[in-house]
Parts: sequence; structure tokens; C-alpha cells
Amino acid sequence: MDASLIKTINKLQDAFSTVGVHNPVDLPQIVVIGSQSSGKSSVLENIVGRDFLPRGTGIVTRRPLVLQLINRPAPSSEDEAKEGEDDKKEPEEWGEFLHQPGVKYTDFNLIRDEIVRDTEAKTGKNAGISPLPINLRVYSPHVLTLTLVDLPGLTKVPVGDQPKDIEKQIRDMIIKYISKSNAIILAVTAANTDLANSDGLRLARDVDPEGARTIGVLTKVDLMDAGTDVVDILAGRVIPLRLGYVPVVNRGQRDIEQKKSISRSLEGERSFFENHAAYKSKAQYCGTPYLARKLNMILMHHIRNTLPEIKAKIQAALAKYLAELATLGDGMSEGAGGQANIVLNIITEFCTEFRTIIDGNSTDLTS
Ligand code: GDP
Ligand code: NA
Ligand code: MG
Repeated sequence: MDASLIKTINKLQDAFSTVGVHNPVDLPQIVVIGSQSSGKSSVLENIVGRDFLPRGTGIVTRRPLVLQLINRPAPSSEDEAKEGEDDKKEPEEWGEFLHQPGVKYTDFNLIRDEIVRDTEAKTGKNAGISPLPINLRVYSPHVLTLTLVDLPGLTKVPVGDQPKDIEKQIRDMIIKYISKSNAIILAVTAANTDLANSDGLRLARDVDPEGARTIGVLTKVDLMDAGTDVVDILAGRVIPLRLGYVPVVNRGQRDIEQKKSISRSLEGERSFFENHAAYKSKAQYCGTPYLARKLNMILMHHIRNTLPEIKAKIQAALAKYLAELATLGDGMSEGAGGQANIVLNIITEFCTEFRTIIDGNSTDLTS
């Protein structure tokens, strides 16, 4: 994710914590929806840039996975030197499950194993599903503090231990996550299926009829019949979407079996679009990196829209803080006034810097 955005948000969060306000910006949740095996988990994993989700043919994701990314600065070199002395180096990145507090996973393959294990423990091995979410937190200096949700896919015919009303159960589960007004919906449709039948788009339209927070993602573009492409969809000539569509190429089943890395997959994706006759002229608007940029822009606009609210919050917090300190006597309140000014300065500086970043990027969203 975008480094300058991460830096800016951290600055804001630091400024707020000096006056005791935590998490001032309520960042949107990104929710992935679509039919079973359309590639939802693959898309999410590519956005995060780590291999950790169970993927595959059939119903693999059987419980919601609520993934909280938490930005945590890398240990400074000074701290590291200190820690080096007693050989207890803090990991830079790790995952932790809500159901296993204190257990730090630094090997992301083991995270995937635990998701599979806990899914089977709660829903059995025979395709059962459950609305009970798995909560995973990932701490890293390279992520934006943000929540992403992976969901089971829409399916119509019950298999294995699935109840007769499986379709309704999954639908209800999805609606619960996407109806929140600050949810950004990634409506995933496989490009080798008919867009008009897209379950994801249909559900998204129910909760977001204006299309203000729905991005269309077209997966499996590499599996389309020769001579067919998604150019008409991208141009908005099939089912127009205000925020548009992004075509991607994720790892196929064989790539998963051969443990192809994310970086090699992204390289393959780039060369696919750059060398394809239908896409080469618009390759910059194709693929996972463009999807990530689009998400960043939506997040920045969201933050910009919340800036007045943030400013009001800080002013209220400061007024309360100053009033409390004033009751403690003159000497104290003078010192506190100085501190308050420092915080206000940081906020003002933040707003200016933030606008610069947004204005520098705002051409992206209109494309
Ligand atoms: P989900 O059920 O929607 O979460 O889908 P998964 O991410 O588990 O993917 C389902 C299957 O489709 C897996 O075998 C993936 O390897 C495959 N797949 C997903 N996206 C693509 C893609 O863009 N191209 C190809 N060739 N296969 C894909
Ligand atoms: Na699947
Ligand atoms: Mg899945």
C-alpha cells in the first residue's frame, strides 16, 4: 500500500494520541463478495501482498475472515541494538488470531493452516458454513491500519453438510458486511462468466444502488476464450459502474499447487496485460497494482471528507483538556496551553500535507 499515505495517517494518529484521542479516522472496511470460486480470496491476498489465505476450487472460504491490518512502525535501529544484546528480537511483521491471544505467527503459511484448522473445528470438514467470523490481526510497518473482510461465495445448490437454505444464509452473511455505509465493496466476477449473472454485482446494487462504494473486479481474464475480452465492460458499455472495473489475473489452481510466489504472479499479470492486443494500450488501468491505487484514492477521499469532523473532534478534546487543566491553577494551564498549540500546529500541518497528497493523485480516480 501507498507509503506516503501510511506515513501521513501515522502522523495524524500520533498527533491525536498526544491528547488522548485514539483512532480518529474511522477507515472504511474493504469487503470482497462474489460467486464461489470467482477469485475473491486471491484478490484479497494480492492486495495485502502476502500468502496466507486458503484458496482453491470448491467452497474453501466457509466463514468470514475479518482481517485487521495494523500499522506498527519497524523497531528503530537503536531499539534493535538494545534488543540484540539479550537476543530477543521483535518480529517486524506478525499475525495474531483473536481465538489465540498472545500467539504470534511470523510464518504466514502457518496462518493459513490455522484458518483451515479453526474453520474445520467450527463447521466440520464437509462443506459446512458458519457466520462466526475468524478474526485475524496482522501487524506490520508496511500496511495501512485498515480492515478487510473475506467472505464465503454465493452458492445456490447445497452440497455436503450444507443446509437447504444455504443461498439465503450466505446472502444474509454478506449483506451484514456490505450494508455498512463505510464498507467499500469489491464485487468480484470471473471474466469467463456472464457479467449479467454476477451475484456480486447484484448484491452490491441492493445495498449501494448509486454505486458510490462498489468497485467491479474482473478475475480470470487469462481464461477467456480466444478472441474475447473485457474491453466493453471496462468502457462501461455493459453494466456501468461509477467507480469502474479493474481486470486482474490471479494465480491459477496449478500456480497454487506449485506455490508460485505473489511477486512472480504480479510480474506475470503485468506482462499479460502489456502484451495482450486488447489491453496493451490501457495496461496502466489493468491489474492488481491499479486496483490497489484505486483503493488508496478512495481511502484518501474518505479521509479528506472526514477532515472537518476530525478537526471538530480535536478542538472539543482540547477545550475539555484545557478546562480541566485551568482548574489546577495558573502555572499549569500556561504549560498546557503551549502543548495544545503544538498539537494544533501538527494538525494544521497534517491537513496541508494531506491536501497536497490528494491533489497530486486526484487524476487517478477520474480515469
Ligand atoms: P474464491 O472462492 O472466490 O475465494 O476464489 P479463490 O481465490 O479461492 O480462487 C478459486 C480458484 O480460481 C483457485 O483455483 C484459483 O487459483 C483460481 N483463480 C482465481 N483467480 C484466477 C485468475 O485470475 N486466473 C486463473 N487462471 N485462475 C484464478
Ligand atoms: Na473457492
Ligand atoms: Mg475464498
